[in-house]
Amino acid sequence: MSSRLFEPLTLPSGAVLKNRVALAPLTNQQSHEDGTLSADEERWLLRRARGGFGLVETCAAHVSREGQAFDRQLGIFDDALSSRLGELAAGIRGAGALGIVQLHHGGVRAPSRLTGEQPWSASAFTEEREGFEVPRAASEELIEATIERFAAAAERAARAGFGGVELHAAHGYVLSQFLSRTMNQRVDRWGGSLENRARFLLESLRASRQRTPRGFTIGVRLSPENFGLAHGLDLDETIEVARMLSSEGLDFLHLSLWDVSKNTQKYPEKHALPLFRAALPGVPILAAGKVWTLAEAEAVLELGADVVALGRAAILNPEWPERARDPAWQPRRPPLTPAEYAELDLGPHFVSYLHKFRDMVAQP
Ligand SMILES: Cc1cc2nc3c(=O)[nH]c(=O)nc-3n(C[C@H](O)[C@H](O)[C@H](O)COP(=O)(O)O)c2cc1C
Repeated sequence: MSSRLFEPLTLPSGAVLKNRVALAPLTNQQSHEDGTLSADEERWLLRRARGGFGLVETCAAHVSREGQAFDRQLGIFDDALSSRLGELAAGIRGAGALGIVQLHHGGVRAPSRLTGEQPWSASAFTEEREGFEVPRAASEELIEATIERFAAAAERAARAGFGGVELHAAHGYVLSQFLSRTMNQRVDRWGGSLENRARFLLESLRASRQRTPRGFTIGVRLSPENFGLAHGLDLDETIEVARMLSSEGLDFLHLSLWDVSKNTQKYPEKHALPLFRAALPGVPILAAGKVWTLAEAEAVLELGADVVALGRAAILNPEWPERARDPAWQPRRPPLTPAEYAELDLGPHFVSYLHKFRDMVAQP
């Protein structure tokens, strides 16, 4: 069956996606303790690359040691990690997909348990939840050094042979903390006005661009509005941030919507996609959030996205882009048992992480 979903797409960088189906970034806690890529993590990703995804993102990979937010998180903070990353990049490329590393720093959500130091963020603030560690407010030197860490990680990804990177500015991690009206209470050039709150992200984009070759793809992931631990975000401000990014030359904007069938919180009669589409002519838009079927994916394109990113559907259906060409095919749905996940090339650490997500794992 012919669907726009299976047509190629050329990004502003010049990179060509063979189709418009992406593997969303998925933390899987399968790396070695020191952040090196493991065989389990490689197997999980390459199975999806071979299953036909046109764009394959790694999980959030931390750009500096003290940005680590998860146990056994993939790292890209040191050249010692590059050789295994290079093997992954070659595998993804060999399968015909564009490989993208998601660059991440946890900020307030990088616990001292993992990093050995007090977390930092835009400002010192508190949240009423168990285990919350009050962050210290970053000095300007620390912000500038972290911009440098993002750029160094982008350069490392390019050298390792990846097609690009995505700056993770969604979900309330450090770049999103600076964008936030509530978490960022600074009064210097990194806080206050939206332009100031967006400076960390924009400078990270600029610096990453400067350190990577022409043709290297650089995208940004944003949460349009509050969700979960991301707060202080306003839809109109996020659209404005997207505009600022696009005037810097953005290869894609990735919207993390969590449920593409829902309209925005701010304007219940409006969906986010047409709003971002209208604000960003010429910038490809990726969108993720509860897409399981071909019809749902096509509806996302209709709303204005260029690429549909699959998270949970890709965990359960590694060959989704191949199988979905058949309109009679029905994707597998959760819950699955650990043994069934093992057959889909998820290692035991990933399966135990999936217990955090409702109804994903069945008791055997
Ligand atoms: C197990 C799991 C891990 C995730 N890890 C990340 C991550 O590392 N970075 C990120 O930006 N989003 C992450 N997400 C969010 C997904 O990329 C995606 O946006 C979300 O799951 C909604 O899409 P879906 O309904 O197709 O799963 C994760 C989601 C899940 C379920």
